[in-house]
Amino acid sequence: MFFRTVSAAQKFSEWSDSYDQSMKDYKWCGPDVMMKALADRVDWCRPDLKILDVGIGTGLLSARIRQDNKAAHIAGIDVAEGMIAQCQGKNIVDDLKLVDLEREALPYDDHEFDAVLSCGVFEFIENPQAVIKEMVRVVKPGGVIAFTTEPSSSFLSKISRLWSALLYLLSSFRRFERSKHYEREKEGIEQAIADTGISEMQCLEFTAYRPGRGSRIKYHLFTGVVSHTTT
Ligand SMILES: C[S@@+](CC[C@H](N)C(=O)[O-])C[C@H]1O[C@@H](n2cnc3c(N)ncnc32)[C@H](O)[C@@H]1O
Repeated sequence: MFFRTVSAAQKFSEWSDSYDQSMKDYKWCGPDVMMKALADRVDWCRPDLKILDVGIGTGLLSARIRQDNKAAHIAGIDVAEGMIAQCQGKNIVDDLKLVDLEREALPYDDHEFDAVLSCGVFEFIENPQAVIKEMVRVVKPGGVIAFTTEPSSSFLSKISRLWSALLYLLSSFRRFERSKHYEREKEGIEQAIADTGISEMQCLEFTAYRPGRGSRIKYHLFTGVVSHTTT
């Protein structure tokens, strides 16, 4: 086996110091794509806006929201202590909590947030339906939910990614470690969403370019309005 499997908490804590630089190098556009896609559903400048950033990491999405809105209440959760520490240092979030989405409910009351967002996280989550249900629970009626997923890549793209990853690992003397990673098709996510109270669902495809891995990775961005109710 080429890779040793480590938990997402360990992988991202170890990566946390250099994560922002990596995302710059990779030209990670998820936060920008999400904000633009939600522009007609979320007034990003509303002073009493309440946002939850699920799998906040170092806060790349929340930092973008904070740029446009100094008064908004922004909460975030993540499983990796290192990522939480990096995010804390930026002073952009009002409420940061260490939470494992695979094992815990979101530590918030029902209907607390105007928008619950998760960018670049679901590919590390084994049971997305449970997380979607929790995200829906904490959104206000009429509020917005958005998350990205990674659909499966073509065989050629898989080979190219594996080759690039090997070159990258060898060139940087990195350890052969990876966390669990789940690729998901649109239809599977649509099934997971059924009966959760999400309406007006839209799915947008975008690509993030990752020079380190030498391939263009396709993502899906799902956005919807929560008419409720999941209990
Ligand atoms: C690729 S990063 C994305 C971070 C940020 N949302 C962004 O756009 O830069 C994935 C994040 O998901 C978090 N994560 C992975 N599994 C998780 C889980 N079970 N519970 C909570 N957070 C998790 C990781 O710790 C990491 O910070």
